[in-house]
Amino acid sequence: MTATPEPMLQVSDLVIEFDTSAGRRRVVDGVSFSVQQGEVLGILGESGSGKTLSTLAVLGLVPGRPGVVGGRIDLVLDDRREALLADLPTVVSTPNRGPVRKDDRRWNRLVQRRWRPLWGRVMTAVFQNPRQSLDPLMTIGAQLDESVRLAEPTLGRLEVRGRSLDWLARVKLHEPARVHASYAHELSGGMCQRAMIAIALARQPRLLIADEPTTGLDTTVRQEIVELFQELLAAERRAMMYISHDIREVLFLAREIIVMRHGRIVEVVAAEDLKAGRGRRHPYTATLLAAADLPVGEVAS
Ligand SMILES: Nc1ncnc2c1ncn2[C@@H]1O[C@H](COP(=O)(O)OP(=O)(O)OP(=O)(O)O)[C@@H](O)[C@H]1O
Ligand SMILES: [Mg+2]
Repeated sequence: MTATPEPMLQVSDLVIEFDTSAGRRRVVDGVSFSVQQGEVLGILGESGSGKTLSTLAVLGLVPGRPGVVGGRIDLVLDDRREALLADLPTVVSTPNRGPVRKDDRRWNRLVQRRWRPLWGRVMTAVFQNPRQSLDPLMTIGAQLDESVRLAEPTLGRLEVRGRSLDWLARVKLHEPARVHASYAHELSGGMCQRAMIAIALARQPRLLIADEPTTGLDTTVRQEIVELFQELLAAERRAMMYISHDIREVLFLAREIIVMRHGRIVEVVAAEDLKAGRGRRHPYTATLLAAADLPVGEVAS
């Protein structure tokens, strides 16, 4: 019998809180999940359930007031384990002495130091809002060339450009040379989104976090993009977290799926079982399945 390999990413008991005008709100409440090498973890859940924040925590991008206040995030790469949240300050004062606050500057400094070597080649994200994620002052080509160079530092200038144009064609942008020379404001929303996907994929990260990457794209393009994500995974030792409102996309890509609600994971299920309507489903998962005309099976009360 072969031992199950250690997951590439393991998140345990993650807690994220924010201070709002209505007081402190716990928006991620003890979330645990893991991602295996070569596999896709699908994340489903209603709006505001904490999907994006859970993945931003993995990327070291949750704002620090108070932000991540508990949990562990372990990254295992090539047999080296790194506890990403270890020794980071979570809170600095007690509730009865006013609002709980982190020392923001110290937090930011420590986070930057810990995550900077990981951003890019180890972990990369495709975010929900393409325009905000692209640099308005750089052409798409300059940003894409940077990604290609990060993944293949030995390429010459022309080879880099060639690779960039290939990536633009792969995300179904039909005039790669024009897009390469364009700024984000010169492209449509859908084009920006595809450019952003190309920029992320070109880095060839070990862990790709895709947060609703196909929202707003035409159905035909969506399918092609989802297949491209799957192709990326075919390269060994890669892993992906894929957030989507589209249960069919998640079922197509993921082996394991978590379903979130109100900051908690309400269900962890194998994609196979969901597809086959096997097992007892959480009522919320059942509504997602029913809405997509998929077999619901038995519903837990
Ligand atoms: N910086 C912040 N300050 C205060 N509350 C926040 C902040 N960022 C997120 N939240 C709250 O945390 C909750 C979870 O947000 P998150 O973005 O993770 O949801 P989501 O599941 O990704 O939703 P969607 O499907 O709409 O993208 C929401 O209620 C949101 O309003
Ligand atoms: Mg989100």
